Amino acid sequence: MRIRRETPADIAAVDRLIGRAFDGHPHSDGSEPAIVRRLRKAEALELALVAEEDGEILGHIAFSPVGFEDGSDGWFGLGPLSVEPSHQRQGIGSSLMLGGLELMRDDNAAGVVLVGDPKFYTRFGFQSDTDLSMEGVPPENLLALPFDGDIPKGQVAFHRAFFGDL
Ligand SMILES: CC(C)(COP(=O)(O)OP(=O)(O)OC[C@H]1O[C@@H](n2cnc3c(N)ncnc32)[C@H](O)[C@@H]1OP(=O)(O)O)[C@@H](O)C(=O)NCCC(=O)NCCS
Repeated sequence: MRIRRETPADIAAVDRLIGRAFDGHPHSDGSEPAIVRRLRKAEALELALVAEEDGEILGHIAFSPVGFEDGSDGWFGLGPLSVEPSHQRQGIGSSLMLGGLELMRDDNAAGVVLVGDPKFYTRFGFQSDTDLSMEGVPPENLLALPFDGDIPKGQVAFHRAFFGDL
C-alpha cells in the first residue's frame, strides 16, 4: 500500500470511494463526495492524498484552509477522511493521517482542526478540550492539533465548500 498525492487521473475513483466510505454512515448526509469536488473546484484542496494498492484507490484524505474568529491563520481543516469499507480497520486511515499531518507540518502549517470521533483522532495528538467552537458540533467532536504555538479561540469556519454550492 502506497500513500501519495492525488492526481487528476484519480478523481473519478476518489469520488466513488468517498461515496462508498460514507454510505449509511450515521453522521453523514451523503455530501462528502460533493464537498471534495467543490474544494477542488475552488482550488481549496490544499493537500489531498490517496492510499493505493495494486492500482486501486483504497483511501483518501483532504485538507483545506480554515478561518478563526480570533484571526489566527495558517491552520487547515482535515476531512473528509475515507477508507474503502472492505479495507477499513487495516491501518489505511492511520497511514493517511500520519502521511498528511507530516506533509502539513513540513509545509509550515500552524495546525489542523477537524470534526470527528475523539476515540479515533486523539491517538494522533488531537485534543478536544479547547476554546474552539463550531455551530452544531458538540465540543468533544471538535478537535485540534497545533504544530506551532497555541490553539486559536472562538468560532472555527471551515471552507464554504463544506456547506453547499459555491
Ligand atoms: C474512520 C476511518 C477513516 C478509519 O480508517 P481505518 O483505515 O478503518 O482506520 P485504521 O485501521 O487506521 O485504524 C483503526 C482504528 O481506528 C478505530 N476506528 C476506526 N473507525 C472508527 C470510528 N468510526 N470510530 C472510532 N474508532 C474507529 C478502530 O477501532 C481501530 O482502533 P484500534 O487500532 O485500536 O483497533 C474509516 O473507518 C472510514 O472511512 N470510515 C467511514 C468514513 C468516516 O467515518 N470518516 C471519518 C470522519 S471524516
